[in-house]
Amino acid sequence: MTIGNASPTAPIPEDALRRVIAPFGSSRTLPGKAYSSAEVFAWEQKQLFEAGWVCLCREEEVCRSGDHRAARLGRQGILLTRDDGGALHAFFNVCRHRGHELLEPGCSANARAIRCPYHAWVYELDGSLKTATRFGDVAVDPAEHELVPVRVATWQGWIFANVSGDAPPLEQWLGDLSDLVAPHAPGRLQIAARHSYEISSNWKIITENYHECYHCPQIHPQLCRVSPPDSGRNLSLRGAWTGGFMELVAEADTMALDGKSHSVPLPGLPSESLREVYYYGLLPNLLISLHPDYVLTHRLEPRAADRTFIECQWLFPPEELDRKNFSPDYAVEFWDVTNQQDWKACESVQRGVSSLGFRPGPLSARESAVYRFLTQVARAYLTGRVNPAG
Ligand code: FES
Ligand SMILES: [Fe+2]
Repeated sequence: MTIGNASPTAPIPEDALRRVIAPFGSSRTLPGKAYSSAEVFAWEQKQLFEAGWVCLCREEEVCRSGDHRAARLGRQGILLTRDDGGALHAFFNVCRHRGHELLEPGCSANARAIRCPYHAWVYELDGSLKTATRFGDVAVDPAEHELVPVRVATWQGWIFANVSGDAPPLEQWLGDLSDLVAPHAPGRLQIAARHSYEISSNWKIITENYHECYHCPQIHPQLCRVSPPDSGRNLSLRGAWTGGFMELVAEADTMALDGKSHSVPLPGLPSESLREVYYYGLLPNLLISLHPDYVLTHRLEPRAADRTFIECQWLFPPEELDRKNFSPDYAVEFWDVTNQQDWKACESVQRGVSSLGFRPGPLSARESAVYRFLTQVARAYLTGRVNPAG
């Protein structure tokens, strides 16, 4: 089935999706199939991930000349390289000889050129074929065997790729999020810590959970001590994102188990931003939490309908990383405790939505960002694409 632009609609009954996009207060959540069906998952990989702008990593992870990094995007493997002139390149991670991956997914390397591990064809860092090693008398035209490029763009230090090549420009995808994130200037921050998790939950359940604190009094006693769960509000502006902010209690500097920062406020932040924590989810896979003194991200890589790999990174000012005795542990510990509480809930919801007894439910006044996220997804299911304009 197609509507208008010939993008295929998702294999979910239309009436269920119409209920998701019904006015706030009368809407329902997505049907269970959206979280458990391999068919829906395959559709999402193609239409939401490969046709969107997916965050792959930070620029500092591919910053030196010769750096290679193999990332996953939807069903595709992507190879990122940095050339001698400092330009970033993205290719399908596929050799032009017989298709071996050029670098194992998830791995990094540094070398003067890209060498296929199978028969040792060698490519320049810009993807051009240098040598078809020991190929004998058979002619190989280098111009016909360049690595296949993938559209790539950067924003605030994050690298994004668009496999389909026809997503709206990244600037349009971000919409008003660019201005909202700019005061924290994550582009100048560096990775101080990272954690990865793989959990038995659909990626959307993790995103929905991120977008509401209605659950906080029940499962996050530590979080509620530093940030009132009913504080703040959600925003509804342009772009393929959802989110808002929450406040810190008067005694807390930041999100930490004791509320104390062991770093410094991010330079140049307006005074109100020292009392607030901002939570933004950029479709399809980047959750950005802006604190007065650090930035935390959750980058999601869906592996199956009921399985998601999550990488968290904690970003701090470079001058803090250089400081003797600096440790990001206060921020890492707080969010690791909170993450574990959330993952337990998300895995329970995954089992629940997979039950024959699951029925789509209503959303509370505290779940308006979940509503916005679900309506963005449901509209994409109906039209075939994410629409960052609305
Ligand atoms: S598949 Fe890469 S050199 Fe043969
Ligand atoms: Fe939570």
